[in-house]
Amino acid sequence: MRKPIIFGNWKMNKTNAQAQVFFDGVDAFANDKADYGVAVPFTALATSVNAAKNLHVAAENVHWAANGAYTGEISIEMLQEIGVKWVVLGHSERRQYFNETDADVNKKAAVAIEAGITPIVCVGETLFEFEADKTEEVVRKQVAGCLSGLKGDDVANLVIAYEPVWAIGTGKSATVEIAQNTCALVRDEVRNLFGGDVADKVRVQYGGSVKPDNIAEYMSQEDIDGALIGGASLEVDSFKAIIDAM
Ligand code: 13P
Repeated sequence: MRKPIIFGNWKMNKTNAQAQVFFDGVDAFANDKADYGVAVPFTALATSVNAAKNLHVAAENVHWAANGAYTGEISIEMLQEIGVKWVVLGHSERRQYFNETDADVNKKAAVAIEAGITPIVCVGETLFEFEADKTEEVVRKQVAGCLSGLKGDDVANLVIAYEPVWAIGTGKSATVEIAQNTCALVRDEVRNLFGGDVADKVRVQYGGSVKPDNIAEYMSQEDIDGALIGGASLEVDSFKAIIDAM
């Protein structure tokens, strides 16, 4: 039985003061029906980790190198120092605007796992690929590329978020059927690569315009173990409504 996992992704939103308001309003409402967390900007990580008693806190990125001449980047050690235990990797916005590749995500996932930080690895096709009927090919390739060379036990413990790029921030959520089918093929690719036990354990999230009023439908699907939520994770009331809907 896979425990549901619901994470918000604040993207480039919230100052420290705003992060504190969010945790003051939401943290006490996390229940034991799921693992709940939020991915927050680097500058709000320390505040968030200190404020979170029940919610998990994720970084939105990390660099693969231990240290060195990488201006503007953040290392694993820097995350560890402030007690961060989760990291979102390969979000489509990082792929689209910062040219991140599956190979980058793969290196980052390896160093995160090594450090005891759990990756949430994002995959998903663009609108162009979706319309060209390439979803399966693209998503299988992303899963294989991002997880290449990792140990099965480690893959079993990480999270894969399927986020169709055309459903992110557009208000255009994937139908439950599309979300379920693609999450199932993510799991199937994990099965091909790492075997049935790992595939049964790995948690797969759907992301893309998930809201309080549609989350229950997604969560009722066999291969959808959770959600990665952008816009609806920003407000205290909407995140609480998501928790209530679980
Ligand atoms: P929205 O929920 O705003 O569509 O964002 C989804 C997302 O990108 C979460 O990582």
